[in-house]
Amino acid sequence: MKNIAFALILLSSVNVFARSTSSASDVKSTLSEAHKKFKDLKDGKNADYIPALKKVPSELFGIALVTVDGKVYTAGDIDKQFSIQSISKVFTLSHVLQESGEKQITDTVGVDATGDVFNSIVAVEKNKGHEMNPLVNPGAIATTSMVKGKNADEIWNKIINVHSAFAGRPLEVNQEVYKSESETNQRNQAIGKLMEAYEIIKTNPEQATDLYTRQCSINVNAKDLATMAATLANGGLNPVTRTKVIDQKHVKGVLAVMSTAGLYDNTGQWLFKTGLPAKSGVGGGVIAIVPGKFGIAAFSPRLDDAGNSVRAQRAIEYITEKLKANPYDIQPRGEYVIGKDER
Ligand code: DON
Repeated sequence: MKNIAFALILLSSVNVFARSTSSASDVKSTLSEAHKKFKDLKDGKNADYIPALKKVPSELFGIALVTVDGKVYTAGDIDKQFSIQSISKVFTLSHVLQESGEKQITDTVGVDATGDVFNSIVAVEKNKGHEMNPLVNPGAIATTSMVKGKNADEIWNKIINVHSAFAGRPLEVNQEVYKSESETNQRNQAIGKLMEAYEIIKTNPEQATDLYTRQCSINVNAKDLATMAATLANGGLNPVTRTKVIDQKHVKGVLAVMSTAGLYDNTGQWLFKTGLPAKSGVGGGVIAIVPGKFGIAAFSPRLDDAGNSVRAQRAIEYITEKLKANPYDIQPRGEYVIGKDER
């Protein structure tokens, strides 16, 4: 009896790593392999429409994985901070769901993939501000406008606090990126105004766009991002600090939206390869969530045409494959007997 109990404890503690029998050292070596394999990949280029991002050293490359039981694995440039950019959309959305419930989002910006680039004005026009997505700019700026507060400071405190709670440490804004993006974000300002015209943004659109720009400028490192991803993988409870960040009931909606639009117009290809909800940012970060198991993050500044880090995507794809973490990659159960009329 004792032996059975012991075996059960052992089984339950060993495997957050999917069906595979990966051990901690397998995970560590998988991350190092991914780093080694893709560190010389030079495809893509830094985002250049935000001048401060153009200057970030293109060779930086960090990878982190955090499990739902709080174990942290890393490889490469892990202490280097970079701006979170669009990945922040996931956490402001999480806050709005927590504060105001699902209908606040589903009945306003919607949860559909737009099929257009992330800052498309045509997409807003086509659908009059609806049938958008909280992870593309019009929907994201509108989502930021829905955070409740008496004034900009009170709203900002909620935004930075929810990001910090997901990361498990106090995060700060990269002032250089914030200034640089504020000076060049006329397109987002136009989107904010247009979303006001279609009555999706009901507060001051200049303030909403400014707060959105600030949230995109929050500094993180790869470990912060992996902890944020792991908090979603763990149903809203940060596995490192053990604090509840959002209610478990909201996580599935966040992951669904990430699955449909997390990598913009390349989301379908990404899902086809990995099966994982993910989100990218033009700072070079990508997060992916293996629900109930772990969060992965990778960071490297060179982006493909859709605005997603080339190395980060490759590294996460490789790790997903190695750790057998694609939830759609199903092993048939039992033995299949071919009937006489089948081939
Ligand atoms: O609004 C922008 O253009 C940037 N702050 C964020 C865009 C972004 O990260 C798109 N991501 N891949």
